[in-house]
Amino acid sequence: MLTNFKEMLWDAYKGHYAVGSFNAYSYDTFKGIIEANRKAGNRPTIAAFGAKYLSNMSLDDAFAMVESIGKSAPDMQICLHLDHCKDFDIICQAIRAGFGSVMYDGSALPFEENLKNTARVCEIAHACGVSVEAELGSLAAGQYSHEGEATDEEIYTDPEKAAEFIASTGVDALAVSVGTVHGLYKGTPKVRVDILQKINEAAKIPLVLHGGSGIPEDIISSCIKNGITKINVNTEISVFAGNKLKERLMAADKIPHLSVLALDQQKDVEEVVSKYISFFGATD
Ligand code: 13P
Repeated sequence: MLTNFKEMLWDAYKGHYAVGSFNAYSYDTFKGIIEANRKAGNRPTIAAFGAKYLSNMSLDDAFAMVESIGKSAPDMQICLHLDHCKDFDIICQAIRAGFGSVMYDGSALPFEENLKNTARVCEIAHACGVSVEAELGSLAAGQYSHEGEATDEEIYTDPEKAAEFIASTGVDALAVSVGTVHGLYKGTPKVRVDILQKINEAAKIPLVLHGGSGIPEDIISSCIKNGITKINVNTEISVFAGNKLKERLMAADKIPHLSVLALDQQKDVEEVVSKYISFFGATD
């Protein structure tokens, strides 16, 4: 069942758990995500389609696919979310296509410009019943990152600015920068739960953790205790499935049929998603 993003995240906020937001760009990635959440007892699910995947699939096709696959899991709340988008026209197209939420990413812009653009997106999206996520602060890029650039500088979210931003824009969820990176970590992740705690006290709305790949379970749990209600995972799914594909091809006497490889990939996606959703449950 397609569901409202805002309600999903407020339920998580009150229930002290997080909803997994997993990136999808093909039938197999959508299906793997939904199957993992179905097997975990119909966990609320966010299928995230990044604006950068528009060459893989149109927004209308992504919506049609989630709507159709979702019918196989009628008891699961599913939200189709537009991930990282700077382009106003694409945001409007996603709203028209039926997406439940959109992320306007103005994090690279000066504060006032990010605020002004986010407020404009909120005005339009909310009039159409669509929720909005925005980002304040900036994440660095780790290994195999598919978001941002290796040169991206880490800028922590300022708690006071976060409160001002939320009050002025009416945004439904705020992505914060507290030490996670997009991509895989070269060493141990250094997540600043102390900063997150201050942001949570000031923000008082559901917070989003980008850069979920590779974050250990205990840190995820501390983040959830401090207001994180949506956790994004993309890179680890791709790296895991890519490595498995390489192993299979190296071990095969003859190249398997593409339909077999596609099914295997669906199972690989399911395996990584299952691991993360087991970390995202209630923390009390
Ligand atoms: P990872 O690169 O850690 O998977 O993060 C993905 C993400 O935040 C997508 O928005």
